[in-house]
Amino acid sequence: MSGLVIDSVRKAFGATQVLHGVSLSVRPGEFVALLGPSGCGKSTLMRIIAGIDAPDAGRVIINDRDVTRAHPGARDVAMVFQNYALYPHLTVRQNIAVPLVMRRLSAWQRLPFLGGFAGAARRAIAADVERIAEPLGLAPLLDRRPAQLSGGQRQRVALARAVVRAPHVFLLDEPLSNLDAALRVTTRREIVDIHRRVGAASLYVTHDQSEALTMADRVAVMLGGRLLQCAAPADVYDRPANLDVARFIGSPAINLLPAEARDDGWVQLAGRATGLATAARGPLTLGVRPEAWRIGAGGWPARVEHTEFLGDGLLVHARLDDHAVLLRAEPDARIAVGDVLPIGFDPARALVFGADGARVAAVEPAHA
Ligand SMILES: Nc1ncnc2c1ncn2[C@@H]1O[C@H](COP(=O)(O)OP(=O)(O)OP(=O)(O)O)[C@@H](O)[C@H]1O
Ligand SMILES: [Mg+2]
Repeated sequence: MSGLVIDSVRKAFGATQVLHGVSLSVRPGEFVALLGPSGCGKSTLMRIIAGIDAPDAGRVIINDRDVTRAHPGARDVAMVFQNYALYPHLTVRQNIAVPLVMRRLSAWQRLPFLGGFAGAARRAIAADVERIAEPLGLAPLLDRRPAQLSGGQRQRVALARAVVRAPHVFLLDEPLSNLDAALRVTTRREIVDIHRRVGAASLYVTHDQSEALTMADRVAVMLGGRLLQCAAPADVYDRPANLDVARFIGSPAINLLPAEARDDGWVQLAGRATGLATAARGPLTLGVRPEAWRIGAGGWPARVEHTEFLGDGLLVHARLDDHAVLLRAEPDARIAVGDVLPIGFDPARALVFGADGARVAAVEPAHA
């Protein structure tokens, strides 16, 4: 497959195993978000792809070529970090041109007689810089220096510089974490636009799940140096592979309640029928997202302990038996502390996990 293939990459620092055999592919034109908590090994994996670090085992393949031992400059990878470094003494135009000038210089070292084409080369570089600057809104800023730019503008210059060579693989490691909340939202759109324009295989590191879910074609969820699931945003949310992914994705977090499958396959929650059946037996965990609860007659009694008004909803902290549960209700719902709400859930949206944590298929028998 062209694009980027990471195959069983392992890495330890001293006695600490940081990557436990990570495999992941990104197709050309695809945007994959690598999502995981701090310290799970995201930047380590990015450095290995870029060639800044070498893996202990496994391979990195770019555009069908095994580059595991190749020099960073020979990989056709562009990378943008959180702490992008612009050259302070160069203008925006010159900063963006740096990778193009470097490429020409190395070509000239091999073919010195091309020196006579300097004028044409200069015009080609200027045209490339303007082509990338225009859609990023940098055209009016080309003659400024970094100190004369806002944080967001500097970040756009770093993005332009990274993609001006039209790399095969585009790596972004938390490129927005220095920006304020409003600027992050607009810059997200710009990054996705740049990615589409360049058509690279893009891998975008973030620990912000809303960023991952809104931007990516697929989300790769990493925990403790292992890739747990790589799937479309709606799939990691609605069909998480296991309890760890279910817990990690979704804010506020999913409700996880101890349940049990009877010998006839019916799933029970504290002795109550749930309307779900599964092929698994014994202890299970039932997962219900806060928005999947339904309040209505015939439900189980949940006592309201606290409410939070969210603007577009009401978050209700309640207690069902001795379990804390979170429900998301309509913003105008008349719910007060001390109320006992009859709650149930939408069976089509409930998740069931086996004793080993993996999600198991559960059906409403009426639909089976
Ligand atoms: N050069 C190194 N020497 C020793 N340990 C390292 C080195 N680089 C990273 N680590 C350790 O490897 C683990 C993974 O680090 P990494 O930077 O990949 O995490 P991350 O997922 O990018 O986290 P963050 O979201 O905070 O950036 C951490 O425990 C870190 O301390
Ligand atoms: Mg990192």
